[in-house]
Amino acid sequence: MRSVVITGAGSGIGAATVVRLDRDGWRVFAGVHGPEEIPVLDRQTSDRVTVAPLDVTNASSIKEFAGLVYLQLGADGLHALVDNAGKGFAGPLETLPIEKLREQLEVNVVGQVAVTQQFLPALRRSEGSRVVLVGSVGGLVAVGFAGAYHASKYALEAIGDAWRQELAPDDVQVALVEPGPLATPIWSKAAHSLDALPSTDRYGDRVRALRERLERMGKTSAGPEQAVELIVHALTAARPRTRYAGGVAAKVVPRVRRLVPDRLFDRFAQRLTA
Ligand SMILES: NC(=O)c1ccc[n+]([C@@H]2O[C@H](COP(=O)([O-])OP(=O)(O)OC[C@H]3O[C@@H](n4cnc5c(N)ncnc54)[C@H](OP(=O)(O)O)[C@@H]3O)[C@@H](O)[C@H]2O)c1
Repeated sequence: MRSVVITGAGSGIGAATVVRLDRDGWRVFAGVHGPEEIPVLDRQTSDRVTVAPLDVTNASSIKEFAGLVYLQLGADGLHALVDNAGKGFAGPLETLPIEKLREQLEVNVVGQVAVTQQFLPALRRSEGSRVVLVGSVGGLVAVGFAGAYHASKYALEAIGDAWRQELAPDDVQVALVEPGPLATPIWSKAAHSLDALPSTDRYGDRVRALRERLERMGKTSAGPEQAVELIVHALTAARPRTRYAGGVAAKVVPRVRRLVPDRLFDRFAQRLTA
């Protein structure tokens, strides 16, 4: 039976991926951030799924989770790791509390590397194993008021490229999944993150508009299944692609962005965030 570790598995894309891979007969190790999410995911899945707490920013939590996985795997290898955990802080860079920028990078970048380091020995024991990094179209195109999130996802693009080259000799495949906007709780959490910002006259109107837009995106976008399909392809294709753009926005916007001069793009993006 093929085995997979999924981080950030308590909601959104992560939870939907767990349910799908369980249905497809995988043995799934699901790392969830909030302990309250454990029974919820347990109820939706078979006993092939092990759900356990995992904070990707906490070294002892990663060690404990990895210990559990290694114990259950025994001498078997791990077929795949899906680095999915993530969060999004929104707001103007000028007023974003600097510790939030650190936390953004800690969760979306450092945490992914730390978790992957733990599982590489098990991945190397399995033929044709895979690491799937859940990036974003936000790692290819940046707009104002999401600078921290974009910085983290751009960084993940570089990490994916570097790791793909480093791990190729060991036959560990690395794929980046780059979804466009999908209806998951990340949007309302990002809207909520605006509460941590000091209120200013300079940005007041734009932050209010941003909050509305974030709430809307979380309701009107396509469902997380779109990203799940791409993750499943990256996990099961004989030769996975290096990058998976999710949906029309993720396919078209980065191409257009490369063709359009910076200041012209800025005007378009500023209209979006006005
Ligand atoms: N939804 C989209 O439009 C979209 C588009 C492109 C890319 N993505 C990416 O897709 C991935 C999944 O996001 P999603 O949309 O499914 O949102 P989500 O439902 O909020 O899922 C993200 C999960 O990561 C968890 N997480 C946050 N901090 C963590 C930490 N320190 N350790 C472990 N887990 C942590 C969250 O738990 P808590 O809620 O308890 O913090 C949550 O369960 C993210 O990497 C996101 O950037 C999403």
